[in-house]
Amino acid sequence: MTVQERNKSQISKQRRMPSLLSFPAFTSLSLSLLLTISISLQIPPSKKTFIVLVDSDSKPSPFISHHHWYSSLISPPPPPFIHIYTTLFHGFSANLASHQSDHIKKSPGVLAIFPDSILNLHTTRSPGFLGLNNPNSSISRLSNGGDDTIIGILDTGIWPERKSFTDYGMGPMPPRWRGECMEGNRFNRSSCNRKLIGARFFAGGYNASPVGPVNDTAEFRSPRDSNGHGTHVASIAAGAHVAGASFRSFARGTAKGMAPKARIAIYKVCWDSGCLLSDVCKAMEEAISDGVDIISISLGLSSPLPFYLDLFAIASFRAFQKGIFISVSAGNEGPYQASMANSPPWIMTVGAGTIDRDFPATISLGNGNTIHGVSLTPHDELTRLPHPLVKISPPFSTFSPQSMHGRIVLCMAVGHVPRIPIGAAMKRAGAVAMIISHGNLDPRGVITESHVIPAIVVGVTEAKFIDDYISYGKDPTAVIVSDGLVSPHIEPAPMVVSFSSRGPNMVLPEILKPDLLAPGVNILGAWTDVIAPPDAALGIQRLEFNILSGTSMACPHVSGVAALIRSAHHEWSPSEIKSALMTTASQHCSTAPFPPIIDESSGNAASPFDIGAGHLHPVRAVDPGLVYDVGPNDLVNFLCGLNYTDEQMKIVTGKRLSCVKDGVDREMNYPAFVVVMEEIGVAGGVFERRLKKVSEDEGVVYYRAKVVGLEGFRVWVKPRRLRFCGGPGESLGFRLGVGLGEKGMDGGDGIGRSGLAYGALIWREGGGKHVVRSPIVVFSKKRFMGFKKV
Ligand SMILES: *[C@@H]1O[C@H](CO)[C@@H](O)[C@H](O)[C@H]1NC(C)=O
Ligand SMILES: *[C@@H]1O[C@H](CO)[C@@H](O)[C@H](O)[C@H]1NC(C)=O
Ligand SMILES: *[C@@H]1O[C@H](CO)[C@@H](O)[C@H](O)[C@H]1NC(C)=O
Ligand SMILES: *[C@@H]1O[C@H](CO)[C@@H](O)[C@H](O)[C@H]1NC(C)=O
Repeated sequence: MTVQERNKSQISKQRRMPSLLSFPAFTSLSLSLLLTISISLQIPPSKKTFIVLVDSDSKPSPFISHHHWYSSLISPPPPPFIHIYTTLFHGFSANLASHQSDHIKKSPGVLAIFPDSILNLHTTRSPGFLGLNNPNSSISRLSNGGDDTIIGILDTGIWPERKSFTDYGMGPMPPRWRGECMEGNRFNRSSCNRKLIGARFFAGGYNASPVGPVNDTAEFRSPRDSNGHGTHVASIAAGAHVAGASFRSFARGTAKGMAPKARIAIYKVCWDSGCLLSDVCKAMEEAISDGVDIISISLGLSSPLPFYLDLFAIASFRAFQKGIFISVSAGNEGPYQASMANSPPWIMTVGAGTIDRDFPATISLGNGNTIHGVSLTPHDELTRLPHPLVKISPPFSTFSPQSMHGRIVLCMAVGHVPRIPIGAAMKRAGAVAMIISHGNLDPRGVITESHVIPAIVVGVTEAKFIDDYISYGKDPTAVIVSDGLVSPHIEPAPMVVSFSSRGPNMVLPEILKPDLLAPGVNILGAWTDVIAPPDAALGIQRLEFNILSGTSMACPHVSGVAALIRSAHHEWSPSEIKSALMTTASQHCSTAPFPPIIDESSGNAASPFDIGAGHLHPVRAVDPGLVYDVGPNDLVNFLCGLNYTDEQMKIVTGKRLSCVKDGVDREMNYPAFVVVMEEIGVAGGVFERRLKKVSEDEGVVYYRAKVVGLEGFRVWVKPRRLRFCGGPGESLGFRLGVGLGEKGMDGGDGIGRSGLAYGALIWREGGGKHVVRSPIVVFSKKRFMGFKKV
């Protein structure tokens, strides 16, 4: 999700409520930030959409097809099915009255029934920042830009005419591709090419939902994107090179995606008022049948439920078992602990970090002080002369337009308020510019948004300073100036941006989440051409590119790099790609003296609950040396370790499996270690893991274990040395033990105060270059308030 998506969810509520301010409807041009939001609002009216999961083996023999069977389950009379699911799981979705759904629940062969839910949406510089610009690097040589890998993107659609999606220099279609270019409003077969190889749209669930149906005046009933989010995300993952790309003269340079030669297939599942889970599941199923290798989803799929009650967890489990790598945005609910819930270990969950670029601008106050901020307003549109300053804070419905006229407005838009419409309202009221503070969401003012009014974003401290000046100064005035340039970020990058959702994992604390950090702040990407009427009235222009922030933008960075790795190593499974990305991630800033990555919200070093294994490092990820792979039985053992019943096992896996009750190991071969302290001072664990050699080196290679951090704990590794003497594919096991040291962990200043201690297990190749690093985390459940295990 991007930071904008939160705004969007609020705006769609606002649209239904008359407000004094009368915000214009949210449109694609509302260029604010956040997109990863969540969550499942369940649908109220008398008939609701349900998704029914059946045991396909239990189809009673009198029925000649599943369809006949499904119809027999509903009486009277069978409604039209919205979707029939045939690949990832068997079942259907339909609008049902409550007596019908009750009846179905009790019918033989029905495994589970889920209410449909509404989900919301949650770069010129970033490839260089990630070390992808050197054509000689191993990742560039081995992957050939991700050629031969297909990334499926589930989002708001695509604007296919953007230069990022030209197929110049692309080889023929991969022969295994079975997808389609679905025709519809302003979209036909010629909209696809050898870059954008497929496009479909899914509206059945949306049309049947209370927020639907598709509004043909405002959006396209086709894969065409009227919002911009999908176009942006697709260009980040796999956009072709576009020279001279920029956003209103900022961020000028060559725009290209992470995997500029990977193929894109678009699955439009999001419409003006949200995305429906029933459509998302159908899109995943079709994407896999079409032949995608990677699925990228920048949507709010967070669920705090156990996997057997969470249809996305179930669908993604099945997809993973079919060899699909799935990357999902972590959400924009930070900086609070336990603010993320996309928890399954079989998906890659991506948080957002800053990049080394900034859009500096300054405010000169009438009292002679200068305040620094960031702004995407071009220099010549900013205020040249001093203007009087006024302040507004929530609720924004009470200000008087006369008081805004000719003023610069300090807007305390703290928390998740829709800021673009506030800017539009200020503009209508005749304000000349807006100074925005996002509060804790962006305490240092690093996130920039493109407002319809000249605007500058400042940090919490700066906002307080200006506020004091307005309150106590005499006739307060200000001038805003920007040099209109992009400059290197003043602070070390990456930082974990405040809004990025944090661990611990709400559902399964022993699986570390998020998994990884990737660029998600001020990212340039391709954009839609649509300008809805309210924006047009405000004089907004068309944009080839736009700058957005959010975990929505971080997720496709990982999807694109996963495509590069897959192109370099066709035989790798999704878990091996995931391990490679995690064990090579960086915990340090990209420039000397390489300080640890910090958390923007606190200014302290980031913990694994903020960054997972660390920040994406593509050049190292293509050659990790060793990987933690997940074997076919590992996930099953893992679910058994959760004490799932046979029925719950069947719901998740689709297979009839019985768990052996004794000696079940709840572990899976995950590239991170988490010890959950049930009681203060009571912790310890022994992990059994294995490493598989994937490097091509001949002869014997040694790796030595080293544990860093976790002072006050007793941590051991057996054996301490792994000797690989076979070729690629050889696997060796080891055990890691974590226990209390002599001093104990309470009382000391480590875990005692914060409830959290962490370090890492590092396997270093003897005389070689490979370093395989996994975070080790010990934390106290009690100290993480609001944290509930389900
Ligand atoms: C890549 O390697 C070639 C040949 O060794 C060299 O001429 C070229 O300068 C290198 N390019 C970069 C960007 O390092
Ligand atoms: C497909 O769309 C393009 C551009 O929108 C148009 O030029 C072309 O005539 C259309 N083709 C068909 C078959 O409708
Ligand atoms: C559809 O969109 C148009 C244009 O934005 C708007 O005027 C109209 O009210 C919308 N219709 C519905 C039913 O929401
Ligand atoms: C599963 O059951 C065992 C034995 O009853 C218990 O020790 C363990 O804590 C349970 N695990 C979970 C995840 O509930």
